[in-house]
Amino acid sequence: MSELLTALADKLGAKIAKKYRVPAETARDMVLVHWQQKQDLLKLVAESSTEKAVARTRIYKDAERDVTRKVYYELRRYQAEQSVDPMIDELRQSQEGDAREKARLALVQNHVSTAERMSHLDEFWTQIKTYWGEPSSLLDLGCGLLPLVYPYADHKLDRYLALDRSTDSINTIQAFKEVYGKDMLETHEWKITDGWDVIGDQSYIFDVALMLKFVPVVARQEPESLNILGQVPARKVIITGCKTAMVKQQDISRRERASILAFAEEQGLDLLDEFETPDEVGFVFQRNI
Ligand SMILES: C[S@@+](CC[C@H](N)C(=O)[O-])C[C@H]1O[C@@H](n2cnc3c(N)ncnc32)[C@H](O)[C@@H]1O
Repeated sequence: MSELLTALADKLGAKIAKKYRVPAETARDMVLVHWQQKQDLLKLVAESSTEKAVARTRIYKDAERDVTRKVYYELRRYQAEQSVDPMIDELRQSQEGDAREKARLALVQNHVSTAERMSHLDEFWTQIKTYWGEPSSLLDLGCGLLPLVYPYADHKLDRYLALDRSTDSINTIQAFKEVYGKDMLETHEWKITDGWDVIGDQSYIFDVALMLKFVPVVARQEPESLNILGQVPARKVIITGCKTAMVKQQDISRRERASILAFAEEQGLDLLDEFETPDEVGFVFQRNI
């Protein structure tokens, strides 16, 4: 491969890493994969002697724009399409001890939302626990893989109902429940539009509901479902949003905060407190039921 092409990809990789949440080397490799297919660019590079000479051409500018866009879409897809089945098998087959913990952590790291919390997990739970009192029942909506990192030893629950529409997440949680013997944990594949039949007894009210990194997603993707979420059968509701966008290196805390507060106002939730973790903005609400 030409040195000039590699140098250009190095530079663009670094530029993309500033914009999106991807290491510069990974971005550079993605750029090179795409550029290998671009005959006009390869020809231009072969006929040029300096980076500058290439960089000022229309062909290069188009190639840079196209590949940056492709990297963005690839990052989004990559985060959504990793198969977890082999990792779940690994967890199920693991012996108790280090191997089992390694399999659990591999799953956790593979889910963007939980992976982002791993560097400050204790701090995260300390924050949450400050606000939730001593709940004995917890409803986790759009739970992702949070049940895999719940501090079971410190805080015992009678019932932990974890719901998500992702088959992968629910299969993972089910395997975790069985392997680790967490009998209080119950999990179901569930979409908001399925409503609350899933909880069984319709007069049951949870002490706390978690909607972590969830409400702004719903507000963007299916705002008509917010009214159902507003009817959550729980007395206290803890809602968080992300500080940084999933792919772009962009501070979105103000936008997420506004989205959560608009939801709460619309649904008549009373704000009790606000908190922050390194990657989340959080709010504690009371629901008067
Ligand atoms: C950004 S993740 C947050 C996961 C988890 N709450 C956390 O903070 O680690 C959002 C989750 O919401 C789930 N989700 C999105 N729309 C949903 C819907 N309409 N019904 C149920 N779950 C949904 C996704 O599958 C995903 O697991």
